[in-house]
Amino acid sequence: MKVAIGCDHGGINLKPTLIEYLKNNGIEFIDFGCNSTKSCDYNDYAEKVCESVVKGECEKGILICGTGIGMSIVANKIKGIRCAHCQDVFSAKATREHNDTNVLAFGERVIGAGLMLEIVNAFLTTPFSNGERHIRRVEKIKELENKNFK
Ligand code: RB5
Repeated sequence: MKVAIGCDHGGINLKPTLIEYLKNNGIEFIDFGCNSTKSCDYNDYAEKVCESVVKGECEKGILICGTGIGMSIVANKIKGIRCAHCQDVFSAKATREHNDTNVLAFGERVIGAGLMLEIVNAFLTTPFSNGERHIRRVEKIKELENKNFK
């Protein structure tokens, strides 16, 4: 599996721990930045990571900002992305099983490195349940992406 990762200045301190985890577990990744503590826009990094996932270059994406919220809002605007804002292990596992999410977002100002690693591990190792009701609901999400409300 190849994973796209990205952060803004609000998530820059957790990223080295995430990278260490990916390397230690033999998981390929592409780091789309940012690479400094200088203030930047989370939008740009969420977009790059999600583009890589939608194009199939990476199977999953991981986004870190201060809260994880800005990143997840941007990610969920992109067709083909189902981003879960998860800051607990139960949700990270459940969202893979129920929602077949392909991007994970969380906040460095909210969780620590230890919890992050458990969340990431649950997200990357839990398969979609393939339950009939979950497939139906994910299909409905995909239909919604094409709906024009105007
Ligand atoms: C940056 O200060 C902060 O707003 C950002 O990292 C994120 O939390 C936005 O949702």
